[in-house]
Amino acid sequence: MNEQKVLRQFFAYIFFVVFIVFFVSIFVIKSEVFSFKITVLYILIASVICSLIVVFLTSFFNDITKIVSAKISSVARLENPNNPLLQKLSKEAPGTFSHSMAVAELAKAAGETLGLDPSLLRVGGYYHDIGKLRTPRIYIENHSGTAVSTDKIQLAKSIIDHVRIGVKTAREHNFPNEVTDLIAQHHGTSTIDSLKAELLKQGVDLQYPGPKPLSKEAAILMLSDCVEASVRSKRHSKTEILEKEIENQIIKIIKSGQIDLSNLSSEDIKKIKKSFIKTITGLYHKRKHLK
Ligand SMILES: [Fe+2]
Ligand SMILES: [Fe+2]
Repeated sequence: MNEQKVLRQFFAYIFFVVFIVFFVSIFVIKSEVFSFKITVLYILIASVICSLIVVFLTSFFNDITKIVSAKISSVARLENPNNPLLQKLSKEAPGTFSHSMAVAELAKAAGETLGLDPSLLRVGGYYHDIGKLRTPRIYIENHSGTAVSTDKIQLAKSIIDHVRIGVKTAREHNFPNEVTDLIAQHHGTSTIDSLKAELLKQGVDLQYPGPKPLSKEAAILMLSDCVEASVRSKRHSKTEILEKEIENQIIKIIKSGQIDLSNLSSEDIKKIKKSFIKTITGLYHKRKHLK
């Protein structure tokens, strides 16, 4: 993180200055080279330098505290289920809302197993598809089987555009940059699987604009999104079938190269897969009991 780097550099400078002042002070006081007047003058100058350091330190800490608390309150604001944007999503795009809640659960739990910020991942899940609010009915999760009649190229362009609209919405609502990045990267530079064959038949190759996930958090969100959508569409509740589907989706994304830049290790992937299986089986068993 940027603030951590600044903080480390800052403490290195402070330590260096205090170290020099301390040893010069010992030398000046102990030695009999300097007259009483010069020693007093030196002590005065050293006191002024130390006071300035304290003033600088205090204002620096104030700035850092402000930045950190603004970030925390901003993420907390987005995590609140009463947030107007989430309310709008639940009313106007109920399928996307339900998918986003499940993605948030998956991403948060997987992130926790890697020691990442669970609130950031949960918020990423809540809002990753917020761009779908512009035309909610064109997305399969928001209509019951009756496909929207439009030509496939136009449909694909509109679907791809939900990433750009999502980023725009996030900026308009002053989302923290970390959350906006998650929205921008959640499809990487992939294609729309369900329309790919049809588009290629027409000689068109459309891709999401990217970038590919550039952090572990963004990669977890991409994996959670694909796993949730795929498991939901298969409508299975048998643990072995769910496990196989999760594994297939993870392998597919790894092979596609979409999470190559995210720094996820193979050990991380194992933990994520284990966490997905636990969360998905929990969610699906809960749904089965609620039917
Ligand atoms: Fe999406
Ligand atoms: Fe999604």
